[in-house]
Amino acid sequence: MEHAPRPLTARRPAGPLNGDIGVPGDKSISHRALMFAGLAVGESRIEGLLEGEDVLRTAAAMRALGAEVVQDAPGRWRVAGRGIGGLREPADVLDMGNSGTAARLLCGILASHDLFAVMTGDASLRGRPMRRVTEPLAACGAQFASRAGGRLPLAIQGARAALPIEYRLPVASAQVKSALLLAGLNAPGWTRIEEPEPTRDHSERMLRHFGAEVVVEPQGGGRVASLRGQPELRAADVSVPGDPSSAAFVLVAALIVPGSRVTVRGVGLNPARTGLFETLREMGGDLQITNERTEGGEPVGDITATYTGLRGVVVPGARAPSMIDEYPVLAVAAACASGTTRMLGLAELRVKESDRLSATAALLGVNGVRVEMEADTLAVHGGNAVPGGGLVATHMDHRIAMSALALGLASREPVRVDDSGFIDTSFPGFADLMRSLGAIIA
Ligand code: S3P
Repeated sequence: MEHAPRPLTARRPAGPLNGDIGVPGDKSISHRALMFAGLAVGESRIEGLLEGEDVLRTAAAMRALGAEVVQDAPGRWRVAGRGIGGLREPADVLDMGNSGTAARLLCGILASHDLFAVMTGDASLRGRPMRRVTEPLAACGAQFASRAGGRLPLAIQGARAALPIEYRLPVASAQVKSALLLAGLNAPGWTRIEEPEPTRDHSERMLRHFGAEVVVEPQGGGRVASLRGQPELRAADVSVPGDPSSAAFVLVAALIVPGSRVTVRGVGLNPARTGLFETLREMGGDLQITNERTEGGEPVGDITATYTGLRGVVVPGARAPSMIDEYPVLAVAAACASGTTRMLGLAELRVKESDRLSATAALLGVNGVRVEMEADTLAVHGGNAVPGGGLVATHMDHRIAMSALALGLASREPVRVDDSGFIDTSFPGFADLMRSLGAIIA
């Protein structure tokens, strides 16, 4: 534990949740905006940047690599980039904290820059697999040395003259895809990445926005993304939408606290991110989307959740990439639904900020919900009022903490988390925002 643990308890409010709010900026898009602006020539302005700890790690790393990264006002940032190939060798170890996205995408950038860097992270990140990026990145000429099992700390010697990579992803991972595309920025010719299942395409969209040539073609059920190397990335302004993965906690809370009605404004609606909303609707959840628009190449809208009562469904494995971060909170919704919800194809949850499959099962189990977990499936048996009363181990995982607190708003007895500190990695102000809607979190 890298900070003093901050326990927190959520209990059922006497009345419904009500209100009209925004959530912090999208984490995936915020990391990318800082990185791509740091690789562009000129000054980019970013509006709505998530100022969570994960993204601040990326800001610090880009500074250490020579970009000028300045906060003008809350959420408003300015980045003067170094140009592709222009990063400077960092003078010290790059500490990526809790953030897998920061670590993996940066590996891609560093792989095709002729410099030496060492990367580390907190205990959670040091336990996560990095070989999924270092192995394919080695094909561009970069060299990596890591701890056993390909874990951080990791030493990187970037390629002097990087080669473009062609690779077929063995797992559905936007982080791996993005790392390889980023390495391709400083290699001649085309980098070509095949993904058997479509994953979030924020990198492809934003690289285009900064002037790169990126071609995306469907292939089978998946996609092929190709990037023409050594483009001149030009500074561009980015408006970061609200994070659908953060909105998820607020919307699920509204769907499980009787009588609630909550609107979250300006939420990103990229189809590669909306699997949870589709699932909640199949469960009978009333989610209305209004004011749909496009901002900075990303679809955005306002979402209103109205309490209706939910029923269990089967969630197909093919949907997993579009809701990979939302299973803990879906499991909470499922615990409050009638009948059983079966979630398939969850193997990737094992390698998130925690073993999120086990942590989710434990979160529900300790609060009296019947669950069955297998290698890559989770079944949640809803149907009765959730007893609650449990102490949830968050395992340095922000999404486990927020999911547990959401459950506490609908269970008979309060739910307590051992440490809410990691919530700041993705959703600073979560507890205050929930309180403003009528939640009791103390
Ligand atoms: C992310 C991709 C996902 C997701 C993570 C953010 C990204 O990871 O879990 O929170 O920004 O590309 P994988 O691509 O490893 O599944």
